[in-house]
Parts: sequence; C-alpha cells; structure tokens
Amino acid sequence: MRLHKAVARSGLTRSEAKNANAAGRVWVDGRPARDCAMQVAPAQVRVDGAEPVETGALYIMVNKPAGVLTATEDRRLPTVLQLLPEPLRRRGPGPVGRLDRDVTGLVLLTTDGQLAHRLISPKWKAEKLYRARCEGRLTDADAAVFAGGVQLSDFTARPAELRILAAGEAESTADVILTEGKFHQVKRMFAAFGHPLIALERLRIGCVTLDPALAAGEWRALTEDEIEGLKRMCKF
Ligand code: URA
Repeated sequence: MRLHKAVARSGLTRSEAKNANAAGRVWVDGRPARDCAMQVAPAQVRVDGAEPVETGALYIMVNKPAGVLTATEDRRLPTVLQLLPEPLRRRGPGPVGRLDRDVTGLVLLTTDGQLAHRLISPKWKAEKLYRARCEGRLTDADAAVFAGGVQLSDFTARPAELRILAAGEAESTADVILTEGKFHQVKRMFAAFGHPLIALERLRIGCVTLDPALAAGEWRALTEDEIEGLKRMCKF
C-alpha cells in the first residue's frame, strides 16, 4: 500500500497526509518518510510519533432513522455514512445490504468486503430479524403461509418464521426472520396476503442485535465477539 493511503486511514485527507509528510510528521520504521508514494506495510507507519496508523477493518452498527438512505452518498438526502464522524467515513466503510428509506433499525457498515459479500449472499443464509407492524389481524394461518414460502409475482420467498407478538382488529405486530433479502421483500410478503406494513424495523443480522442503547441515528463499533460471531457464521 502507498504511504499516503496508509496515512489517510488515520483520518487525514490526502492533502493533509502530504502536508504531514512534508513536515516530517510521518515516520516509517522509525525514520521520517520522504516519499508519499512509497510502498509500506501499514503497521510500519506512525504519524506524529504516536500510535501506529489504524489498519484494522472497520465493523460498525448504526441505528438507521427513517428518511436516511442506506448509501454512501446522495446529492439530496442524508445517508447512513453521514451518521459517522468524518475520520471514520474517510476510511471508506460501506453498508452491508440495504434498508428502504422508510425502514429503521440495524445497518452494519464495514470495510471488510469479503464479510459484507457473504452476509448479503443468499448462499450463507444469514438470518435477518425484522419487527413489523401491519394492518389487520395476523393469525396462525398467516404464520403457516410464511413457513411454507410466500408466493410473490416473480419468485417464491424462502420459508420464513413469523412470530405474532400482538394481533388486533386494526393492526398486528410480529417478528419475521428471513434468510434472504430481495428488494422490498418484507413489504411485499405482507402485502401479498393482505396485511400492508405500517412500520418495519430491523433488529438483528445473524448474531448481531441492534444495541438498545443506540438512539435513532447513533452508532457504535462492533465488539470482538460480534465480529467473530459474524465471521464464524460465514465460515471464515
Ligand atoms: N424488506 C423490505 O421490504 N424493506 C427493507 O428495507 C428490508 C426488508
């Protein structure tokens, strides 16, 4: 990796990295570095004589509010990336899969492309748990339809678990567990059997549960256990 890139990982822009280098603040293997373009192993690099440049992959959860896009950038609307502080954003994490703009809850962001790929690939069957509020009264018959695989216009959804938490005349609440994530899938599954969604929140991906201490719009780094759990699930 080139030196300017390694330095940028510590949160400096490319021009700040260049300036830091010109000012002799960047050291490689205990010596001031001269050439921004030199190839380095990130662990060799120090800025301002401090800790080695942060090199590990980033693994972050955010509690996405409604109205925020699961995207890295957008001209008009706020994105989940904008929920992170600038130095973290600069390290280039991307969202793992996506939630619709009106859907709230758990979004993972990482710089670990391989793990992200496996978490969204249907092959690895990572469970996603959603809490859904829908119109009308859900019944055990609806749960049986979910378990058998809901037929949609273009595909049959994989068998999914529907746990009814509250069922009233006007609306019901249920947890839904899927192992795939096609476009608008939960909304389409509920609409297909006459219970349009009122609200949808994602609460869990694999072994990682949305931290109840995170208010809408807040984030935190995943713990070592959470990262290990995700990797184990995807057979790393
Ligand atoms: N299902 C949906 O319909 N929307 C989402 O954002 C996620 C799952």
